[in-house]
Amino acid sequence: MLNANPLASPELKDPRFIEKLAISYQTNCSHCHSGEAPSAPSIGATADWTKRLSAGFSHLYESAIEGIPNTAMSAKGGHTELSNDEIKNLVHYFLLMAKIDSPAIQAALKYDELQIKDREFISLDQFRLGYLEKKNLSKEGAYYSQFEQYDALQDGRMNQTEFLKMRADLQKRQRSSKLSDDELQKNILNALSKVNGMPPAGIRVAVKNGNAVINGVVGDDAVLDRAFKSIRWLPGLQKLDNRLITAEMMAFD
Ligand code: HEC
Repeated sequence: MLNANPLASPELKDPRFIEKLAISYQTNCSHCHSGEAPSAPSIGATADWTKRLSAGFSHLYESAIEGIPNTAMSAKGGHTELSNDEIKNLVHYFLLMAKIDSPAIQAALKYDELQIKDREFISLDQFRLGYLEKKNLSKEGAYYSQFEQYDALQDGRMNQTEFLKMRADLQKRQRSSKLSDDELQKNILNALSKVNGMPPAGIRVAVKNGNAVINGVVGDDAVLDRAFKSIRWLPGLQKLDNRLITAEMMAFD
């Protein structure tokens, strides 16, 4: 049986409770979510919220409570004084304002049942099947070439467990190649310089014992994503602290 629909809870039918959430939203979330920050889903934007909810309620709670890496959405939108329950109710408030239809809610409850937690797996599982096919990985060279090897049942479907094993193995291999810090720094700068839309200057890369810290400001989320992908699997990289931000993140943080 599916979990109950959290949006149908009695307290969310109480106008005084909703009024309180509206005030909390105004105070804590509206400066990004009222349509000002282009990359943040706007309050009331049905299509955007329907798409986001498709990864399940628990995924949205987690994003709101822990934040979304490499975006302006930090833990609790920066308001860590709010309780987890209050944040969950603010998520409910967003969903109510977006008037999500009932089939979308049912689909989200089904995806919740699969208990898929890994953020990268969810973003690759675009059609919310609960498994990945090789074509889902066509833009992820490192994974694409390993697909058959990690698809244990050879049925063209990679589940979350298989995916996590593949990623862990790739990381182990990556970390086992030993490069000098200078070499690694050169390789990172070189890879970044080939990224479409990358600013020609102002990106700083520091490497110590294979741990890289990257600082700078890039144009938008798409460039940020390409930059991350271009260096993520470089051999010898032990840890990546990606502090690249977009101009938008600087304005709204
Ligand atoms: C500094 C700006 C900022 C503030 C303040 C902020 N958000 Fe966000 N939020 C974002 C951005 C940007 C995204 C989209 C990130 C992405 O998916 O690329 C986002 C996405 C979300 C999502 C969707 C998560 C997902 O997995 O798709 C939820 C839920 C959310 N915010 C809840 C909140 C709540 C609740 C508050 C107030 C307590 C809040 N946000 C305050 C910027 C902000």
